[in-house]
Amino acid sequence: MPTLNWLKKEFDYGYDSGNVVSRFPNKVRRSEENRIGGSYRQVFRRCIKPFLTSDAQVLELGPGKGAWSRSILNLIPSGKLQTVDFQDASQWLAPEQYDGRLSCHQVTDNSFDCIGAESIDFFWSMGVLCHNNQTHVREILTNSFSKLRPGAHSCHQFADWKKLNRYGWRRGGVPIEFQQMEDDEIWWPRNSTADMVDIATSIGWEVVQRDLGLLRRDGLILLRKPI
Ligand SMILES: C[S@@+](CC[C@H](N)C(=O)[O-])C[C@H]1O[C@@H](n2cnc3c(N)ncnc32)[C@H](O)[C@@H]1O
Repeated sequence: MPTLNWLKKEFDYGYDSGNVVSRFPNKVRRSEENRIGGSYRQVFRRCIKPFLTSDAQVLELGPGKGAWSRSILNLIPSGKLQTVDFQDASQWLAPEQYDGRLSCHQVTDNSFDCIGAESIDFFWSMGVLCHNNQTHVREILTNSFSKLRPGAHSCHQFADWKKLNRYGWRRGGVPIEFQQMEDDEIWWPRNSTADMVDIATSIGWEVVQRDLGLLRRDGLILLRKPI
C-alpha cells in the first residue's frame, strides 16, 4: 500500500489537521492528538517557531490542506513558504492570496527538483515520513539535503514501531494486523529512531536531537546541515 502510487492517490481529498496553534483543539485535532500522544500547539512552539525568522525561506513536505502551512506563513511576513506534495495543495491553500509568499509544487517523485539549491532555511514535515517506507525516507532526506543552506535545520515526524509498541497499537490508531504484513501492504511501514539516525547520518546530516520527545507514539527528529 504505501508505495508512491498509493500515496499519490490516498490523500486527494485533502488531509486536514485543523488549526494547530489554537489554544483549544477542534474535534479533528483532538482526536489526532489522542492517537499521536502529544499536543500540536506544543510541537509548533518547540519544533517550528524557534527556526523561523520573519524573512525565512521554508520548505514543507506534504502540507495536505495546509494546517501547518498557515501557521508557518503567519510567522514569516517577509519570507516564503514552498510546499511539495503529490496533491495539488494550491486548491486548498490559495497561494494567490499570499503576494508571492507561497508556492505549492505538485510533484510525482521525491527528487525536489522544483527547489533551488541551498535556498532553504528550514524544512518541515508532519504526517508524511510515517507513510513512506525507508527507501523513500532515504530518498527524501538525500534529495532535500542540497536544497538547504549550510547550518539550516530540518525537522520531521516519523513512525517508530518501538514507541508504537509501548504506546499501544489500538490507542495509536494503527491496525495491529500490520505487524504480520509487509511494508508494501500497509500505510504505516516499519521505521525506528535508530534507523532514522542511521539514514540521516549516512547522508551527511548532523543529528541535533534524535527524538524531541514530544509525541508518545511517533518520533520527531531534528537535523541540521553542517556548515
Ligand atoms: C497525512 S497527510 C498530512 C498533511 C499535513 N501535513 C497535516 O499534518 O495535516 C500526508 C500528505 O503528504 C503527502 N505525501 C506523502 N508522501 C509524500 C511524498 N513522498 N512526496 C510528496 N507528498 C507526499 C500526501 O499527498 C498528503 O497530502
